[in-house]
Amino acid sequence: MGRTRKGERQTALVTGASAGIGVDLAECFAKDGYNLILAARTESALREVADRLAKTHGITATPIAADLGAIGGGKKLADEIEKRGLSVDVVVNNAGYGQAGAFNGSDAAVQLGMIDLNDRALVELTHIYWPTMMANKRGGVLNVASSAAFQPGPLMAIYYASKAFVLSFSEALWEEARDTGVKVSCLCPGPTVSKFRERAGTGKTRLSRAGTPMSSMSVARMGYDAWQANKRVEVTGMRNRVTASLAPFLPRTMLLRIVRNLQSPL
Ligand SMILES: NC(=O)c1ccc[n+]([C@@H]2O[C@H](COP(=O)([O-])OP(=O)(O)OC[C@H]3O[C@@H](n4cnc5c(N)ncnc54)[C@H](OP(=O)(O)O)[C@@H]3O)[C@@H](O)[C@H]2O)c1
Repeated sequence: MGRTRKGERQTALVTGASAGIGVDLAECFAKDGYNLILAARTESALREVADRLAKTHGITATPIAADLGAIGGGKKLADEIEKRGLSVDVVVNNAGYGQAGAFNGSDAAVQLGMIDLNDRALVELTHIYWPTMMANKRGGVLNVASSAAFQPGPLMAIYYASKAFVLSFSEALWEEARDTGVKVSCLCPGPTVSKFRERAGTGKTRLSRAGTPMSSMSVARMGYDAWQANKRVEVTGMRNRVTASLAPFLPRTMLLRIVRNLQSPL
């Protein structure tokens, strides 16, 4: 008889699983035998990912198209999951986007939409599945924040603030879940190869020239391993780790100038 895999008879819901880091996070769970529910807006891409992972890893993968930026999008997705007779043991809140530029003159719908997706939907989904996880004493939440979470971000203010929220919320939940068997981790990637930059418009900032972005699979693997170990916070890459740990010790005005400089156009 084959070896039992870690995720046997458990299901991970991965949001933003049609592209980038989410696809690779889904693969990490699939490799360990977790069944998958994959959510994002682009159904064709989700289906492709689901078919590939199901075939390669011998799991079931269900793609569900969902706009999580819409108010109530998380509840709508959960209703659809229930309608299909599926349950969720692990929530991977990965869907998110950023927008570079000054707050003045920015598009309100884009700014508020970022909060709706990066924060509101993340809380909504976590709130829906958290009681079952706590009752079952297993499963948990893997939230994707950013290295942006560790300081305010002039010229990308809402994105940085939205990720600071994710970090703070995740750390609080980690403590609430201590000794329950429910695992909580906050993955904080630095620049990573994906479609993020295209949508965020960060390709023309000084920060974009400051180093080589990591591959989405290496970032996903670090996040997955951290979650399995119930590590509270995982910052990817040595440079990002050093920066994140120095941020609280720098004079705030200096820190703000440095970030503004990095977020300035080339
Ligand atoms: N790449 C980086 O440099 C970087 C750095 C730090 C943190 N992050 C974070 O990592 C996470 C994943 O980003 P990524 O780099 O993989 O970017 P990506 O390649 O742009 O992928 C984003 C994913 O989110 C989904 N998504 C976007 N809007 C959505 C909506 N309204 N409803 C449902 N799904 C939606 C996208 O699918 P659809 O378009 O099909 O909906 C896609 O699957 C994000 O939270 C991002 O903030 C990225």
